[in-house]
Amino acid sequence: MPFNDSSPASALAELRNVTFGYGERVILRDVSLKIPRGKVTALMGASGGGKTTVLRLIGGQHRAQQGEVLFDRQDVGRMDAAGLYAARRRMGMLFQFGALFTDLTVFENVAFPLREHTDLSDALVRDIVLMKLHAVGLRGARDLMPSQISGGMARRVALARAIALDPELVMYDEPFAGLDPISLGTAAQLIRQLNDAMGLTTLLVSHDLDATFALADHVIILGAGVVAAQGTPAEVRASTDPLVHQFVNALPTGPVPFHYPGPTAASDFGPLDGRSA
Ligand SMILES: Nc1ncnc2c1ncn2[C@@H]1O[C@H](COP(=O)(O)OP(=O)(O)OP(=O)(O)O)[C@@H](O)[C@H]1O
Ligand SMILES: [Mg+2]
Repeated sequence: MPFNDSSPASALAELRNVTFGYGERVILRDVSLKIPRGKVTALMGASGGGKTTVLRLIGGQHRAQQGEVLFDRQDVGRMDAAGLYAARRRMGMLFQFGALFTDLTVFENVAFPLREHTDLSDALVRDIVLMKLHAVGLRGARDLMPSQISGGMARRVALARAIALDPELVMYDEPFAGLDPISLGTAAQLIRQLNDAMGLTTLLVSHDLDATFALADHVIILGAGVVAAQGTPAEVRASTDPLVHQFVNALPTGPVPFHYPGPTAASDFGPLDGRSA
């Protein structure tokens, strides 16, 4: 599928012909994709398809075996520790299943990256934390412990923590998981507002088709280790690729396999004939 704007300056992060595997198992095969500046990009695809892996490559937690992973035109895979630290300082991350620190207040959770990465005075930290909590509607909840807030509120605190350092790129891994429809709508709206008001670039991994297609400017579908489609939500919806068709229509059968690769059923269970059903 053609990409609307191919000028390199328009992408804040980019994978160029990236091949990556954990050990022998290849997860991404010659994958090229772009995260356009200033936009909300959704990365979708079947479970186990490598979405979290893409975020880890951009964040420099893993290095590609082949190809380039660019952040602001620099190859993350070639950065030394100091370069990586500096690049990460410009990225915010909401981890999949990323919980708050349960023994820290809401305030201290959001303050955490500021204390880790800066030597700002307590007064400045306080102002920034309250500003971020204000942005997610939770300034009044600053003194509560994570056990005293709801799941939807916790997700909003995690959003505030992800943007604490005023990142240029913010990556959210499944920010909607487990939220009721109202909290999900609130979180989706917040992601949009934060992106636009703060001039961020957003990379969002989500399984929620409707919310994500409504929110995103750009959608990338990963399937079987390759990019199956990328483009506007409308372009991706119109894709005739069988995997994309299965995915956007949430069909249980199609090219996306149900089973994690492993020994054949026959070798694990033995011949089934002769057994009682
Ligand atoms: N640290 C690791 N070591 C070995 N294999 C891993 C590791 N992390 C992930 N994998 C494997 O890589 C594949 C891709 O994982 P990844 O977490 O990127 O998928 P995903 O698209 O984020 O899936 P989900 O939607 O379920 O979160 C999976 O098959 C997983 O088993
Ligand atoms: Mg994942």
